Amino acid sequence: MKFKAILFDAYGTLFDVHTVIKACEEYYPDKGTKISQLWRQKQIEYAMQSQIMDRYVDFYELTKKSLRYAIDAVDEKVTPESEEALLHAYFKLNLYSEVKQVLAYLKEKGHLLAIFTNGPKHMIDPLVAHHRLAPLFDDVISIDEIKQYKPSMASYHYVANKLEVERDEVLFLSSNPWDIAGAKNYGFSTVWVNRDHQVPEHRELTPNRVIHDLTNLVK
Ligand code: LAC
Repeated sequence: MKFKAILFDAYGTLFDVHTVIKACEEYYPDKGTKISQLWRQKQIEYAMQSQIMDRYVDFYELTKKSLRYAIDAVDEKVTPESEEALLHAYFKLNLYSEVKQVLAYLKEKGHLLAIFTNGPKHMIDPLVAHHRLAPLFDDVISIDEIKQYKPSMASYHYVANKLEVERDEVLFLSSNPWDIAGAKNYGFSTVWVNRDHQVPEHRELTPNRVIHDLTNLVK
């Protein structure tokens, strides 16, 4: 079935959040990987807690808060310099190597392509500009527009309405199992981009396809 719209999660799906390990190592030698893992884990947890508490805090503030936690948790000290440098690294995350080629192929096939992310525009737009992705995407949509984090039903409902597409016309891709489950729960078709070969979760909301990078999508 030809999907009218193909939507992509940003962090972990298009952009490698663990690019920050290098900068973490510069300030906290031998603890970079641990900091990066805790940072990402808490960033996602805090977004979900914010949603459940009905207490919206933008993803940049949650990214700052989770960074501070991660550094404290490895018995290190946050300094103004380390915090500034590590947060800056979040605006320069690497693009996964296959992204541009696959997006160009899908665009040529006539699909509407959009990013759908928890990140606010002031975080995502610099990444899109840094990697010159604007010609490939028809839209960049942030849940910040309605202050409802994924995987809330309201978030997926918002993006479908904004793009004026029906649920069954949308294919949603994410590397995050909780995001894939949320999109499936709403009614999108889903492809889990299981880049890290994680153990499957949510067997009651199983993805339509599981791939390990976007090239499989083309095949
Ligand atoms: C995103 C992160 C949460 O929404 O994966 O881009």
